[in-house]
Amino acid sequence: MMISRKLIALTVLALGMSAGIGGAVAADLEAGKKKVQEICAACHGIDGATPLTPDYPKLAGQYPDYLAKALRDYKAGRRKNPIMAGMAAPLTEQDIENVAQYFYEQPSNLATRY
Ligand code: HEC
Repeated sequence: MMISRKLIALTVLALGMSAGIGGAVAADLEAGKKKVQEICAACHGIDGATPLTPDYPKLAGQYPDYLAKALRDYKAGRRKNPIMAGMAAPLTEQDIENVAQYFYEQPSNLATRY
């Protein structure tokens, strides 16, 4: 009977994880794209790789946890930039996951030179 108990425990764990319990909320790429089109594309480009000017960083292909952390830091004032503070302020935790995953999925045109 140990086996079936273990199985139940694993199933509960898997269900919990897929429901987002104890972890980050699952990203919605379509919603992320929509948010980027509405707000972020003006500076970072819709693909995160063609910013309007070199003052705006490229985001395409960047690790989603880095992007999400940057957005949370702007929002909380831990990272200080007057432009991005205003951009991050209205984002919900779900928005942050969505846009971070969206930019991560875009092809990067940055490369390391050897
Ligand atoms: C008005 C122009 C503008 C808009 C619109 C804008 N950004 Fe930014 N973004 C910037 C600038 C400028 C920086 C660099 C700030 C700094 O030096 O910290 C930046 C930096 C960032 C960074 C940090 C990048 C890194 O490499 O550390 C992220 C992530 C980011 N923006 C995401 C977004 C998202 C998501 C949106 C839309 C919700 C958005 N930005 C909208 C101008 C903009």
